[in-house]
Amino acid sequence: MAVGIVGAGTMGAGIAQIAAAAGHKVWLFDAKSGAATQAVDKLRIDLQKRVDMGKLAYAEAQSLLGRIEPVDAIAAVSEAGIVIEAIVERLDVKRELLAELEMLVSDQTILASNTSSISVTALGRDLRLPQRLIGMHFFNPVPAMKLVEVVSGAATDSAVARTVADRATRWGKVPIYARSTPGFVVNRIARPFYAEALLLLQDRYATPSEIDAALRAAGFRMGPCELMDLIGHDVNFSVTDSMLAASFFDRRYTPSIVQRELVDGGLLGRKSGRGFYHYPAEPLVEPAVSNTQVNTDPPRVSVRGDSFTVTTLGAELSGEGWDVEYAHPAEDSLGHADSGLMKDMLLVGDMLICVTDGRPAAEVAAQSGHRHLAVIDIILREDPGPVCVAFAPGCGDRQRAVVHNLLEVAGRKPMEIADAPGMVVARTVAMLVNEAADAVQQGVCDEASADIAMKLGTNYPAGPFEWLGKLGVHAVCHILDRLDAVYRGERYRASLLLRRRLWGQKVGGN
Ligand code: NAI
Repeated sequence: MAVGIVGAGTMGAGIAQIAAAAGHKVWLFDAKSGAATQAVDKLRIDLQKRVDMGKLAYAEAQSLLGRIEPVDAIAAVSEAGIVIEAIVERLDVKRELLAELEMLVSDQTILASNTSSISVTALGRDLRLPQRLIGMHFFNPVPAMKLVEVVSGAATDSAVARTVADRATRWGKVPIYARSTPGFVVNRIARPFYAEALLLLQDRYATPSEIDAALRAAGFRMGPCELMDLIGHDVNFSVTDSMLAASFFDRRYTPSIVQRELVDGGLLGRKSGRGFYHYPAEPLVEPAVSNTQVNTDPPRVSVRGDSFTVTTLGAELSGEGWDVEYAHPAEDSLGHADSGLMKDMLLVGDMLICVTDGRPAAEVAAQSGHRHLAVIDIILREDPGPVCVAFAPGCGDRQRAVVHNLLEVAGRKPMEIADAPGMVVARTVAMLVNEAADAVQQGVCDEASADIAMKLGTNYPAGPFEWLGKLGVHAVCHILDRLDAVYRGERYRASLLLRRRLWGQKVGGN
């Protein structure tokens, strides 16, 4: 089957490359004269480099290039079995192109759009055969990124979706099915990764380097601030802004004035030399961490709760020779639900170290009457790394030093931040899970697809439903509800899918 590609920019050229690599004849057209030829010339240089490095056989590179034909007239794609458009991201221009293509190709030809934000339903509105139009959303850079969102509009034939998914698989990609809704899957579920960081910055709870370090420790390849700098604040801002408009102003997608300020000031990130960080030359530094040492015998630690965070810390401390006991909450007066404390904690002497449930340390201290109290962020990995900690206002210096020491001994560099509700990792992950849950609830994709999409489309270390399994629906709902109580708006409303699952657990279902 021959493939027609319209638009020979970054994406079109990448799609042409993978289709040709899979053995297809490819016609590549661009409205700008010479652009398709230039794209093939650039690909030739890239492939030559790979040949020189011994990563690609010369003959393979030659035959791949031989299969891509830059064409001057759009009519040349008329014999293609599938035509994929990767032109400018404008509804009117794409509609005009699709109408033109429909007149050129046979009724069996599939029309695909690489749009990242326009409704496939809207794109197909004026087509004679809207059932053959589908979204085929590749990620940049196309040859490297495995994910393809196969996006069905209201009129798209399910057989067309299956054919396109099968084609994507043969091209070495991993397709997921999605329904055409704002942001599709990846761009929608990823919003809180940026939004939570921006709100933490706006409320001056943490610095960009603290937020980035905390999320890198949680396994993300890049923190949100460095990632926004890489994407470009103008691009990232406009995606959020378009989600806001497309969702009829769901306040969950409200863009940030922090990012607006960067955009207005031309501080767009790497491409302008400055965003949250300066480029080049400013290396990313780990934020300052404490070196407090408390010279005492290995103390006794009591671990309450069974979360990954407390059991991991308990194991790390016991590995360092500390005397660790695990208390059952029911036997423990401190662990009662009405004590105002958190379910998961460590007790060292008179110091309580609580794992965040969404409440700030000051609130927990006020509700429980314990002033020597710290709240720490959740831990998601066994690998050592920084962890955020905040103290209740009345916490004594000696007790603070105990917490710093405990975390250091456990191989977790303590990173003291202001008393942020939900800290950094817990609120970000809870909101990613929540957004994914809403997407599934609304039939945008299924759970497995949401996990695949976020791991392959954004390189997340785990999928949102994998995190849900690790943290438990009770903990995730709890964090969201506590944040909702603190912020009082629509932003932290828990998804009905999570709520239903929680109720199901309470009555013995799943
Ligand atoms: P680009 O600006 O690099 O390339 C677009 C090309 O389309 C240009 O060469 C332009 O001359 C050509 N073009 C514009 N109007 C045309 C028309 N009416 N007929 C034929 N050719 C036309 O853009 P890029 O980044 O390749 O994006 C293309 C599409 O892919 C957009 O819809 C974009 O939203 C989507 N996309 C982009 C991603 C990215 O990271 N750049 C990721 C995923 C999707």
